[in-house]
Amino acid sequence: MATSKTTTDLPAIDAPAREEAGHLLQLTLVELIALSLIGKQLHWNIKGPGFRDLHLHLDELVDEWRDLSDVVAERAVAIGVPPDGRAPAVIAQSQLEPVEPGLTAVADAVRELTHRVAEVDERVRSRSEQLGEVDLASQDVLIEVTRALEKQLWMIRSQL
Ligand SMILES: [Fe+2]
Repeated sequence: MATSKTTTDLPAIDAPAREEAGHLLQLTLVELIALSLIGKQLHWNIKGPGFRDLHLHLDELVDEWRDLSDVVAERAVAIGVPPDGRAPAVIAQSQLEPVEPGLTAVADAVRELTHRVAEVDERVRSRSEQLGEVDLASQDVLIEVTRALEKQLWMIRSQL
């Protein structure tokens, strides 16, 4: 049988590239899930002036992070790498610091959020650069994530 880059039901990406792309997608998935958990935590726990705007804005952000995590996870499945979105995987693999428990002033929450979204964005940018050599369709997914995170960053930090 002729050697092929792929088995019958997977895209024509060779195994090491598939593994690397899957790994970079996985690292992004867990950070998007972590952001969505942080977003809800702050949605519930912020207080003070500006509460209502940020409370509502956080739910929009959480929806966006969840939608993006779905796109990222499904790209991994499409290339034959099973994504792991379980809580233990998020804890083990996400580099994001959890926020402090308890009530948080709106301005502090905005700073905490800006810092974390910027941090994730920086890592996603670097992963998408790595994917340029590996798999362009997976790179396209992370570019979509970058574009969304950078728009969010502008909207969040504008509240400071
Ligand atoms: Fe709510």
